[in-house]
Amino acid sequence: MVGTSRPGEIGVDLDVNLELLWLVALGVTDAMAPVEGHTSQLDAIHPAQLSGNTLCGVIHAGIHVRAATEEDLAAINDIYNHYVLEGHYTFDLEPTSLDARREWFGHYHDTGRHRLLVAVDDGRVVGYASSSRFKSRPAYQTSVETSVYLAPEVIGGGAGSRLYERLFDSLKGEDLHRAYAGIALPNPASIALHEKFGFKRVALFTEPGRKFGRYWDVAWYEKPLHAESVSPD
Ligand SMILES: CC(C)(COP(=O)(O)OP(=O)(O)OC[C@H]1O[C@@H](n2cnc3c(N)ncnc32)[C@H](O)[C@@H]1OP(=O)(O)O)[C@@H](O)C(=O)NCCC(=O)NCCS
Repeated sequence: MVGTSRPGEIGVDLDVNLELLWLVALGVTDAMAPVEGHTSQLDAIHPAQLSGNTLCGVIHAGIHVRAATEEDLAAINDIYNHYVLEGHYTFDLEPTSLDARREWFGHYHDTGRHRLLVAVDDGRVVGYASSSRFKSRPAYQTSVETSVYLAPEVIGGGAGSRLYERLFDSLKGEDLHRAYAGIALPNPASIALHEKFGFKRVALFTEPGRKFGRYWDVAWYEKPLHAESVSPD
């Protein structure tokens, strides 16, 4: 895990951006130029550090994704509550309490359809992604609603993609047929992330929610999930 690996122990945490590591190792540092409007993963690393022991620094700058534990709930809650108070991305109007968050955590498991993963950067939880029950009626059990939130300071650095990669990998083999995501508009980053992972817009709800004194549209995105590998009931 990042934060516990020691210099040289590359094998301890291979859950890093290997492509980026190779580019750095080969000296192709132009590949790290930030995309316009996005933060580079390596902005925090001074060019002078890109030699000698550079790989260790880059490894620690890498984001590690793992299953969430109860110890992560305060950090998860802080990330989510930031958007409750500051953003239209969630339609919650009041911050979630830690007790409510613990109850929520009980819906997720290390196996099965409902997962909760965290992104950890140098020992700190900087984001999370979940696959949750889509609707309570039992025939909906082959669908999940997915969600992903990052701490504002790591947005645009690829953590969202890392979380979704691991989330959808972890769901392979589960008896699932569809994933859904409701995106309150505008949210170009979330749309780009979901489209990158194969979601397509299937519905637009006009003004279903009111927050900050105005109504917001919600676009619903759908992703087929390996239906071919599972026999229908
Ligand atoms: C949505 C969110 C999770 C995306 O995570 P991220 O780490 O910033 O996204 P990534 O860096 O992995 O980018 C994923 C893709 O989207 C693109 N992208 C990212 N931000 C973008 C933006 N503002 N506009 C257009 N495209 C964008 C990236 O270029 C990338 O595509 P590529 O790999 O083909 O280049 C993150 O922005 C976030 O937490 N936002 C606030 C909370 C939120 O909106 N959650 C979703 C609720 S529905």
